[in-house]
Amino acid sequence: MIQAALRLVHLSSPQPGALADFYQATYDMRVETHDEYHRCHAPGRELWFSAGPANQLGHALFRLHDSGSWQAFQARTATLARASTDLPALPAETLVFADPDDNRIGFAPPAAAAPQGGNPTEAPPAVLQHFALRTPQLEDMLAFYRDALGFVVSDLVQTDAGELTAAFLRTDTLHHSLALFRAPFSCFDHQSFETADWHALKVWADRTGRRRTPIVWGIGRHGPGDDVFFMVRDPDDNLAEISAEIEVCRPGRATGLWPHEEWTLNQWGKAILRS
Ligand SMILES: [Fe+2]
Repeated sequence: MIQAALRLVHLSSPQPGALADFYQATYDMRVETHDEYHRCHAPGRELWFSAGPANQLGHALFRLHDSGSWQAFQARTATLARASTDLPALPAETLVFADPDDNRIGFAPPAAAAPQGGNPTEAPPAVLQHFALRTPQLEDMLAFYRDALGFVVSDLVQTDAGELTAAFLRTDTLHHSLALFRAPFSCFDHQSFETADWHALKVWADRTGRRRTPIVWGIGRHGPGDDVFFMVRDPDDNLAEISAEIEVCRPGRATGLWPHEEWTLNQWGKAILRS
């Protein structure tokens, strides 16, 4: 197990300022505008937006939980090809890799100081917890994250004919920090802010409703991960999720296998199937 958590998702967009405005308003984040990117942040959650094609990951950044795990990860990936580090404001010593779809994934050593506590305004705490990618080469992507980087497979989804359609992978005890969906082409799918509980989920839904941002999927409960959730779309049509109660996996938890059907992705019915 890597023992790491997602800390940052960076997306490219033809309208990075509009995305920053959207996430600032919808997710109660502050915006800092830099030369190369807009930084949206609040305690526990951080997103960047820079100029480029829509629906593409600029990079994702994980932080290792402790120095022992960092040393083990460095040793594990010592012979793995590194990707270019021409990314803005990378933490010192960050290791960057390119997956088979050429998404860049960074891993940084443990932070010297714990993140600041508190919340800037009235919204309930919510922490950037996982993200998802669509890919036309799911088997290769799964092999890269599992075998090269050391992600652990929590659950797989497959058709009756045995074709793999989704994979949920974890980097610590939480059920997934990355989900992969088979799709006709490679793109970003969604990121999720994990909030405390049902009540907090309701408060977040009330906030999005007051801002006339419609829920496009949910409220529901995912099969893999068992998390309750709802999703909206940002101005580039990326999905953005608030979730709660994601499964905490016990050591040695067996990989689950689910059928490719709507009831898997939403135990309460309707789902967005990517293939
Ligand atoms: Fe999700």
